Amino acid sequence: MSIAEKFVSMEYGPAPEDPKEAQAWLERHSRKFHHFIDGGWLAPAAGEYFDTLDPSNGEKLASVAQGSSADVDAAVRAARAASPKWRALTPHLRARYLYNLARLVQKHSRLLAVLETMDNGKPIRESRDIDIPLVARHFYYHAGWAQLLEQEFPDHEPCGVVGQIIPWNFPLLMLAWKIAPALAAGNTLVLKPAEFTPLTALAFAGLCQEAGIPGGVVNIVTGDGSTGESLVKHPEIDKIAFTGSTEVGRAIRGATAASHKRLSLELGGKSPFIVFDDADLDGSVEGLVDGIWFNQGQVCCAGSRLLMQESIAEVLISKIRDRMNTLRLGPPLDKAIDVGAIVARVQLERIQRMVAQGVAEGATCWQPQITLPSRGFYFPPTILSNVHPTSIVAQQEIFGPVLAAMTFRTPKEAVELANNTVYGLASCVWSESINVALHVAAQLKAGVVWVNCTNLFDAACGFGGYRESGYGREGGREGLLEYMEPKWFKHAPKLVADRPPVPPLQDPADSGTPSIDRTIKLYIGGKQARPDSGYSMEVRSPDGALLGEASLGNRKDIRNAVEAARKAEGWAKATAHNRAQVLYYCAENLAVRQDEIASRLASAVGEQQAKREVASGIERIFSYGAWADKFDGAVHNPPFRNIAIAMNEPIGTVGVICPSETPLLGFLSLVLPLIAVGNTVIAVPSEKYPLIAADLYQLFDTSDLPGGAVNIVTGYVSQLLKPLAEHDDVDAIWCYGDEATVASAKAMSTGNLKQVWTNEGRTIDWFDSKVAEGRWLLEHATQVKNIWVPYGE
Ligand code: NAI
Repeated sequence: MSIAEKFVSMEYGPAPEDPKEAQAWLERHSRKFHHFIDGGWLAPAAGEYFDTLDPSNGEKLASVAQGSSADVDAAVRAARAASPKWRALTPHLRARYLYNLARLVQKHSRLLAVLETMDNGKPIRESRDIDIPLVARHFYYHAGWAQLLEQEFPDHEPCGVVGQIIPWNFPLLMLAWKIAPALAAGNTLVLKPAEFTPLTALAFAGLCQEAGIPGGVVNIVTGDGSTGESLVKHPEIDKIAFTGSTEVGRAIRGATAASHKRLSLELGGKSPFIVFDDADLDGSVEGLVDGIWFNQGQVCCAGSRLLMQESIAEVLISKIRDRMNTLRLGPPLDKAIDVGAIVARVQLERIQRMVAQGVAEGATCWQPQITLPSRGFYFPPTILSNVHPTSIVAQQEIFGPVLAAMTFRTPKEAVELANNTVYGLASCVWSESINVALHVAAQLKAGVVWVNCTNLFDAACGFGGYRESGYGREGGREGLLEYMEPKWFKHAPKLVADRPPVPPLQDPADSGTPSIDRTIKLYIGGKQARPDSGYSMEVRSPDGALLGEASLGNRKDIRNAVEAARKAEGWAKATAHNRAQVLYYCAENLAVRQDEIASRLASAVGEQQAKREVASGIERIFSYGAWADKFDGAVHNPPFRNIAIAMNEPIGTVGVICPSETPLLGFLSLVLPLIAVGNTVIAVPSEKYPLIAADLYQLFDTSDLPGGAVNIVTGYVSQLLKPLAEHDDVDAIWCYGDEATVASAKAMSTGNLKQVWTNEGRTIDWFDSKVAEGRWLLEHATQVKNIWVPYGE
């Protein structure tokens, strides 16, 4: 046989990684694990344990404590007790602890990689070369933030005690993404690993002991969803960070609505992998291997929807099939394996069910001729073609090694198809034309865009979703901010209920009040609009004098305003300079009319406040004119041959419930940061003095603000909040109000998981520009998109 023939026929021999060290570690713990609470091992109060299995053969690895609410309580109490000392440590000392953890992860990397593969089923090549090195990188990076904390975030404090719930697909990496920033910012925490994969979190608990982390700072409670639920509901938790399914994310959002717990959610995805006809096709096929067969496709940002330009579809599919034929599937501890085991039987059955449903809906299924191991949970790499964009396999997360392929003709169609999903986590664009790639990247609704590369991660580059993929970022400066609050905010006084009950409706004909024609109208799409109801609300001065009437907006008016705001999304594409010009023009026009506006406003809030509101309002507009072209993103230099361009993008269409007591300044303080960065807005102005709407819309009309960028619907918050919060085309709600109002804003917007930002029922002094203006608001008005671009040959 010639060398060339041998080369073709050559089979890989088995190259198993030695599990001895991991087995010895399991034996040292007698294959039975308690919770890690207050720096030591604590048996579960109810004495219950569950088994964790090796998915490559279905055998039991160990039994692990099932956490009850009593266990969660013990862990939270330990974290609370440890909090004052930990947050009071100097940044340098905290940095040293994190640095120690990074070193220990590297020192024990082999044990951690093998254990991860045994518990999860992922190929050792991945856990060894990707997961564990990224874990170490995360702790190094955040050791750096701990060191710089006081310099870089002087006016912030940690959230306090954090509850963290992670999934099974990247067990130790997700732990690192959660624990490193939490500790760096000075929080103590309770983390619950996923029930399928608790072992590396327990090994990490050992590293915490070795690193000398004080007892109670890191607590690990194992268990299933019910343990997670107890953690979410615990009253002593200040923040919940969750990664997992959108369904559970939604439940957590509902469960935390009535509390002040901060929440960050990293949820599912159905990420597009777009290949243009000028792409390096072989390169894109390798990218796809990493995109959908990495970790058996059990990746929240998996490139699970292949969108191919029609002209290259046939040749691309054929190249993909050729490559699929060379993928090696088998026992994941084998170093030459590409595709390992599915995490658990239920997940395997879920994948099988969804693929069968996709085929029933018309998709063509192709799989390479692979013999699956006789034991364990395996599913072959699969490609479904002729997939209709509405099919379940094009819309729902399969979380398995299954690619759904579709075609498009033009870049516009590619963007439409790519964005045709409730998710928005990641995306890939393959094209040799940098212009096409970046043009498309800018239009994709996703937190990450990889140009000509796939599934790259780094601690310095924030990761997280748009839309139902969640909110908040992990990694980067923005990820750290998720674990901190401005110092003043947490201690701000409670806002007393400032909105009177809604009076019964009076028919305009019998009321004897001024007719509807003399009523301040709504402002929708740049035009004054009569309210759908025909009703109005009386506006009275503090001593009861009738000041005028404002239109009583209803659900239909909100719908019209949302439509107008959506149509005006071109505002986001206006240049920052252009937006700044419009804002300065607003300031100029307010200055011209300040006496007149102040004298009207005085009838509701008194002369002194009215003058202050107008004067501060002019300044505030100037400030956001200034910010409009200065709230820039960043360029990261991850340790690869890539740059990651972190863009501060607008969230989209935002509903704003304005403060009642400062009708002009409160409105401007919330609406301006949003429009300065390109959002469009539907604002419900002060209930106390909605007549300010007329002054505002004259201001906008005369200042070249495009119609629809700001829409104003007057009326009662108790009637307008619901349609705004429930509207699927509203991307975020900013709600200023008392505790009950902000709790309902959060509860009502669980449906499409829109971002909600509130004052948490606390008072904000709108006259104090140090707290009521600037970066804090702009950070909430934007979401970061990281666009990864490779360089070099
Ligand atoms: P899951 O969302 O149920 O589990 C994730 C974590 O949440 C686990 O630690 C679990 O114990 C915990 N949990 C479950 N119910 C909870 C509750 N009510 N309150 C608090 N914590 C709770 O995900 P699961 O069942 O493991 O997987 C189901 C599907 O979810 C997968 O097929 C996949 O589509 C998706 N998924 C997405 C992930 C992502 O990273 N985007 C990760 C894991 C699953």
